[in-house]
Amino acid sequence: MDHQRQQWRSKMGFLLAASGSAIGLGNIVVFSANAYKFGAGAFYLPYLLALIVVGLPVMWLEFGLGQTQQRAFPQALKNIGGKWGEIAGWWALLNALIITMFYVAILGWVLGMWWKALVGSLWTASVPLKGFAMTSLPNPVGSFFSLISSWNNILFVGIVWALNLILVFKGARSIEKGVKLMMPLMWIFMLILVLIGISQPNGIHGIYLLFTPNFAALGSADVWNGAFSQIFFTLSLGFGVMTAYASYLPKESDHNTNALIVSTMNCSFEMISGLAIFTLLFAFALTPKASTLSMMFFVVPKGIAKLSGMQQTMGVMFFTLLLVAGLSSSISLIEAFAAAIIDKFQWSRSKVILGVALIGILGSFACALPVIVDKKLATTGTMGLTFVDFLDHYASKYGLLLVGIVECLIIGWVMPAHKLREALNENSRIKIGAWFDVLIRYIIPIILLIPVCLTLWGAIQGGLYGSKYPLGSFRWMPWFSAALWAGVTFGGAFILTSISGASREEA
Ligand code: TRP
Repeated sequence: MDHQRQQWRSKMGFLLAASGSAIGLGNIVVFSANAYKFGAGAFYLPYLLALIVVGLPVMWLEFGLGQTQQRAFPQALKNIGGKWGEIAGWWALLNALIITMFYVAILGWVLGMWWKALVGSLWTASVPLKGFAMTSLPNPVGSFFSLISSWNNILFVGIVWALNLILVFKGARSIEKGVKLMMPLMWIFMLILVLIGISQPNGIHGIYLLFTPNFAALGSADVWNGAFSQIFFTLSLGFGVMTAYASYLPKESDHNTNALIVSTMNCSFEMISGLAIFTLLFAFALTPKASTLSMMFFVVPKGIAKLSGMQQTMGVMFFTLLLVAGLSSSISLIEAFAAAIIDKFQWSRSKVILGVALIGILGSFACALPVIVDKKLATTGTMGLTFVDFLDHYASKYGLLLVGIVECLIIGWVMPAHKLREALNENSRIKIGAWFDVLIRYIIPIILLIPVCLTLWGAIQGGLYGSKYPLGSFRWMPWFSAALWAGVTFGGAFILTSISGASREEA
């Protein structure tokens, strides 16, 4: 055994870090955007079902993997599934690294909007625009497009990467310090936002809509597809993150309870932010185009702009909330990736972190390229944002779910499942029954295969993105980004597996 493997100082530190990873932009805006798109009350039933049938069991699995193997994701899977297990592990981490690249680019835009909220340019009536078909746009849409079409946004993205580096530099130790500060801040800001939302006239109608089940919508495959994809992204499953974090706890930890706590914290945060956002929507009669980015950069700021006298404070608070929630997620993947490299090659931590960050920064810059490709703003506007849209599509709609299928198959059939369950149960107050084995071996892989097939079917019928994407002369973008995503994940996984690691004396 390597004796210098780092550990969390406290169980609290682990729980805060793991829930910090789970709670992110996904909870604040993706959930609300999905819920809105799928008829609000229609969404949370499939969502809760996805949580219980897939989310919680897979979190048990990922925690149990880290606990029993005491290694990051690729090495942990290698111990069970050999070479192909290791390939799957690297593939997962590279897929997650691509998510991190655009996620941090989006956090850079959050910082840019934070700045505009602070100095006040977000609250003016309209913003002049260069390079687009329209000469000016009303706020906050105008502020956003002027941000992403200027080189300044690269600076903001760079700053967010620097913050990430500071937070992960010392590994579990600096992460633990960071989340102890960030998580309470995040909860407090969110509760303030809810109180303000609820106290608006008509705000209460948003709550009714959010919590009124709409059984008719349950017949739509899209709703189910959305719920199962959402649960993976929001709980940080399929990223290899939970395994790395759990491997920093002693073997005799109670992970059955830990997973329950983390997923409950995550999902209650999601419901609470649903309250905040739906009350704002109703108070100000806003009807969002249901996309995540429009929810966070247009719709909510539009509502905040109407809180007279409070717009600056609330705007700065909202973007701080997004930034803090996002940072505690992005650091988890940087750590998980670095942990895997260190486990395999035994290189020094600071070198590995800097290397991972350098690659990540280049990817994030590509996602923030301010080149205007869509002058009429039919969709995204800039090359960077188009890139984000496609990478997100491949990495979240296919990547995360495929990782979920593969990890269930490897652990379910090769380990096999009952061994992991017994290891988990040994130290836990809550005992998982044999139904877990059935879920992991059969039910979850089949359930996850359905949304993957639906997305694939959409691509076969309507183009790579599932529908026509008005890109003008940039028709190569969907193919280019698909090739890049596949090349990086498959190519990288094979290369990283084939290089032999540093030898270490095994116990
Ligand atoms: N769970 C996060 C959310 O809901 C997403 C996330 C998890 C993530 N791990 C990550 C994003 C690593 C980027 C990198 O927003």
